Amino acid sequence: MDLLFRLLMLVSVIVHQTPLTTSSSSSSSPPHALNLGSSLSVDDKTDVLISPDHVFTAGFYPVGENAFCFSIWFTKPLSTGRHTVVWMANRDSPVNGRRSKLSLSKTGNLILQDADQELPIWTTRTRDLTDSAQLKLNNSGNLYLQSNDRRILWQSFGSPTDTLLPNQPLTKEAMLISSRSKTNYSSGFYRLFFDSDNVLRLVYSGPFVTGVYWPNPELRAWDAGRSTYGNQRTAAIDPFGRFISSDGWFFNTSDDGVQPMRRVTMDVDGNLRVYSLNENKTIWKVTWQAMAQTCTIHGSCGENSTCSNEPGYGRKCTCLPYHKMVNRSDCVYGCEPEFKQTPCGSDEDTFLHLPHFDFYGYDSKYLPNVTLDVCKQECMDICSCNGFQYKFDKLQGIYLCYPKFLLLNGFSSVSFLGSFYLRVPKVTLSSSTIKATRELGLNCSGNPRIVELERVYDKKNERGSIKFLQLFTYVFGALEIVCIIYFFYKTRKSATKSQGYLQAATTGFERFSYRDLKKASENFSMEVGRGGGAVVYKGVLTDNRIAAIKRLKEANSNQGEAEFLAEISTLGRLNHMNLIDIWGYCAEGKHRILVYEYMENGSLADNLHSDNLNWDKRFEVAVGTAKGLAYLHEECLEWVLHCDVKPHNILLDQNYLPKVADLGLSKFFDRDGRGNSEFTKARGTRGYMAPEWFFVSLPITSKVDVYSYGVVMLEMITGRSPQGGDQSGGYERPMVKWVREKVSDGNGGNSNWIEEIVDSKVNGEYERVRMGNLIKVALQCAEENKEARPTMSQVVDMLLHGDDL
Ligand SMILES: *[C@@H]1O[C@H](CO)[C@@H](O)[C@H](O)[C@H]1NC(C)=O
Ligand SMILES: *[C@@H]1O[C@H](CO)[C@@H](O)[C@H](O)[C@H]1NC(C)=O
Ligand SMILES: *[C@@H]1O[C@H](CO)[C@@H](O)[C@H](O)[C@H]1NC(C)=O
Ligand SMILES: *[C@@H]1O[C@H](CO)[C@@H](O)[C@H](O)[C@H]1NC(C)=O
Ligand SMILES: *[C@@H]1O[C@H](CO)[C@@H](O)[C@H](O)[C@H]1NC(C)=O
Ligand SMILES: *[C@@H]1O[C@H](CO)[C@@H](O)[C@H](O)[C@H]1NC(C)=O
Ligand SMILES: *[C@@H]1O[C@H](CO)[C@@H](O)[C@H](O)[C@H]1NC(C)=O
Ligand SMILES: *[C@@H]1O[C@H](CO)[C@@H](O)[C@H](O)[C@H]1NC(C)=O
Repeated sequence: MDLLFRLLMLVSVIVHQTPLTTSSSSSSSPPHALNLGSSLSVDDKTDVLISPDHVFTAGFYPVGENAFCFSIWFTKPLSTGRHTVVWMANRDSPVNGRRSKLSLSKTGNLILQDADQELPIWTTRTRDLTDSAQLKLNNSGNLYLQSNDRRILWQSFGSPTDTLLPNQPLTKEAMLISSRSKTNYSSGFYRLFFDSDNVLRLVYSGPFVTGVYWPNPELRAWDAGRSTYGNQRTAAIDPFGRFISSDGWFFNTSDDGVQPMRRVTMDVDGNLRVYSLNENKTIWKVTWQAMAQTCTIHGSCGENSTCSNEPGYGRKCTCLPYHKMVNRSDCVYGCEPEFKQTPCGSDEDTFLHLPHFDFYGYDSKYLPNVTLDVCKQECMDICSCNGFQYKFDKLQGIYLCYPKFLLLNGFSSVSFLGSFYLRVPKVTLSSSTIKATRELGLNCSGNPRIVELERVYDKKNERGSIKFLQLFTYVFGALEIVCIIYFFYKTRKSATKSQGYLQAATTGFERFSYRDLKKASENFSMEVGRGGGAVVYKGVLTDNRIAAIKRLKEANSNQGEAEFLAEISTLGRLNHMNLIDIWGYCAEGKHRILVYEYMENGSLADNLHSDNLNWDKRFEVAVGTAKGLAYLHEECLEWVLHCDVKPHNILLDQNYLPKVADLGLSKFFDRDGRGNSEFTKARGTRGYMAPEWFFVSLPITSKVDVYSYGVVMLEMITGRSPQGGDQSGGYERPMVKWVREKVSDGNGGNSNWIEEIVDSKVNGEYERVRMGNLIKVALQCAEENKEARPTMSQVVDMLLHGDDL
């Protein structure tokens, strides 16, 4: 202890005697403006500009080991501890962490200089004639150079990187370019820009292929709702969440009207998204995105690999079986076969069947109405054929065959009904030495090696800073000792606790103590619901957030904290506006508790017969619920089924927008649809359960949720309960049957069929066409044959566009 004390004394002596040049500036608050002839230095962390309202900071931001970019970011860190960068001056050429600086020259030129390099890394090429220009950071996040006569010489809003802030226009000179990866801010491959025909587009421009993917390239501009006459070429989002582009395209974010902090970002995965900041939680929520399925973005996964989506991460590339990555650090290079290709013409190849795999384009032929064997033979006969697509075309009632010479734009999704047949040598398939498992975890440019900047420091200038360096070494050494001691004590104290925190940090939610939750829920007194092996209480957390506290029955709590975390970690990564938000968990002793956001308007079940939920709102409930489920089924890495879709599990927020809740029963499936042994027992709630549950031989797929969704929608429309009737036989529910009969009456000429179906007790107007469409879609979902049911994303499409037809 004595030794420790002495060490501390020594350190404090060193620290206090250090006449750091920066100490004066760190004691006063950072300036809001930079004057002519002054500079910001990378050596001093407090050398930054801060906007008057403190929301934005401009300064040197670390982008790697000893690598900095001059940037603007949101001052407040996220819950992950990281900052959200909105602009960078030198994203593609970071500067050293010592002696680099941004200076405003006497002539009014803004210059970014790296250590001792003569040439500037970046400059605004401006000249000030008034001799009193200033560099300022606005409350709107705009960094601008303004001369005395109020002229703006240069502004960061004019040269965005990957983000637009409210009121920042995207002009014809500018484009948004995605970052290379989540951790590497250099320019990536996706761009938002105004094309030569004045249309705002998203393009993938990779090292090997280039292609526009939004709006749908198969549509002409007019058909995609764009005008080619908007030659002003400007687009912007306003603080209320309304985006308007000069090509006539516009949208409102899901939270339009309210005014949180927002940003429009060209994301790493090629999707354009709008985010709103939930200030309490310091988490960005997606309030709009350009592509519902990011995997339909072409080109990015490289050859011989397929794309799948992972919430919170974005796109992920996976090699085909028997293939490995060409370049371990970057998936755009694609995958190469691990087997030796057989000489052309020999009969040594066979085909590996990959259901639900699709490769877009690069067909060597198109063969309609052929059998599988004919298709195989066709591919065999073409030397360059690497495999073929074989799928059933419903419209024509025939099978289509597409032999392919290049396997690009790979995509695997349960919603794709065709198959791919990969050509591999027979010996490869029969040999057991090569594993058939696909190489997983190839996280596409999400896992770059962080490269240290190697720059030669000029000797002649080294002398001047040698003193500083010496000092630096002393202080650093001393700090290190303190840190070691601190950690020694700290880790001894909390060795048991820290592991939980670590895991929580990686799964992204908070770990609550049982005591806190007990207090929050007033000793578990405010019960708001129960079912599914859990009781839900209302509670007020210490930061005044109102939470739903779900206490799992103790029978579930034999597993340890790690297993529990593993099980719920996927739930934590789900992030969709139509899924309930999980804030955290508690796993102490026998207690297993999940903490969710609390929804003030209760569930759909509570509101089915209420006037608060008029027809417009009901329609939004239908669309929102479908979107939430589509995300679960199709956008997740693991295939998640809900398995208990019912009105009690569709919660309504203050605007009566739905959020699907209670994923407690949900299970993660392999994408190829093989059931999980735990699924031998039927799950769900009588009345809403799909017929498959009652037949042991039928596989459980995402279509069970589609069925329940259909029944819930019919209940919402008719006001009739689906309960009752004999379900164990798998016969259609009386309510569903009744609606089906009414609809066929309608087809038979009864023009009042909609009015007869719709719940007359609900007030308000509805559009007949829209209602008719909703009824038909719901009925289709509640088909007894699971093949006849649409997928959830098809449901979303039909609800949004079905009534236009
Ligand atoms: C500064 O921000 C305000 C609103 O926050 C805006 O009206 C003004 O135009 C901005 N000035 C510049 C130069 O961006
Ligand atoms: C967006 O909001 C504005 C004002 O609230 C409204 O006039 C407009 O119709 C909305 N646009 C869409 C596409 O919903
Ligand atoms: C944030 O917290 C404040 C009080 O701490 C509360 O009034 C407000 O509703 C919360 N906002 C959100 C979005 O949760
Ligand atoms: C992989 O890609 C990186 C970055 O593009 C490159 O520097 C490296 O040389 C590549 N490695 C191989 C083995 O091709
Ligand atoms: C993809 O696979 C084919 C044959 O299966 C091979 O010829 C090609 O080189 C592979 N692509 C890459 C990028 O290695
Ligand atoms: C498909 O081929 C079969 C047999 O070759 C033929 O009988 C059938 O009419 C064909 N169907 C179509 C739609 O061409
Ligand atoms: C990304 O790669 C790292 C290291 O290769 C791996 O540990 C991690 O699990 C991968 N992440 C995903 C989402 O596959
Ligand atoms: C970011 O990625 C680029 C391109 O692959 C690479 O050249 C650069 O070194 C990376 N930067 C960092 C800091 O890792």
